[in-house]
Amino acid sequence: MTTENNIRWHQSLVNRADRAKQNKHKSVILWFTGLSGAGKSTLAHAVEGRLHALGCRTFVFDGDNVRHGLCSDLSFSAADRAENIRRIGEMSKLFIEAGTIALTAFISPFRADRAKVRALVDEGDFLEIYCHCTLEICEQRDVKGLYAKARQGLIKDFTGISSPYEAPETPELSLDTGALPLEECVEKVLELLKTHGVIA
Ligand code: ADX
Repeated sequence: MTTENNIRWHQSLVNRADRAKQNKHKSVILWFTGLSGAGKSTLAHAVEGRLHALGCRTFVFDGDNVRHGLCSDLSFSAADRAENIRRIGEMSKLFIEAGTIALTAFISPFRADRAKVRALVDEGDFLEIYCHCTLEICEQRDVKGLYAKARQGLIKDFTGISSPYEAPETPELSLDTGALPLEECVEKVLELLKTHGVIA
């Protein structure tokens, strides 16, 4: 395949199936979405801990962390959030090519942006996990004190307050992270991975 820029795709000798065989597990994108404070990062890291203990190759992409580096040039406008999610989608695609279970914890508030990532990979490679926690609970928790600031008008385009969150319509898994204990949520994600044949 040659593009107008004279760039040609180089086929690697070691493919995803080879890596899965060596790793003894398949790779997938576990896409955690939900409001700030819904528990996406906590859950993604807890799942990663369990998978690592099982000998799986994993990596967590965390919204706050990625915005310190790769996406430090982006704001929280709808266009910049779309670009944020596009970059993470492409990065996650590379990670699953590399045989890694990629866990992403981004608010990713817009359905269209999440749908684009889903479309980027093969069917079954993108498992959307909705961390469903009401705005009231997230705001009560206010772990980072950002909701209070947003209410005072000190942060613009804040998800749930002055910017919308579009809940997934058909996620592979929906978890009531406002009520369920963390361990129970972790178990449900591990079950999902087994159902999809990612881990045995
Ligand atoms: S996303 O909408 O583009 O997916 P992302 O997950 O990367 O967002 O970053 C969200 C984190 O940035 C939040 O958990 C919060 O700590 C911080 N943040 C700072 N400003 C905002 C804002 N305006 N809206 C939402 N989160 C914000």
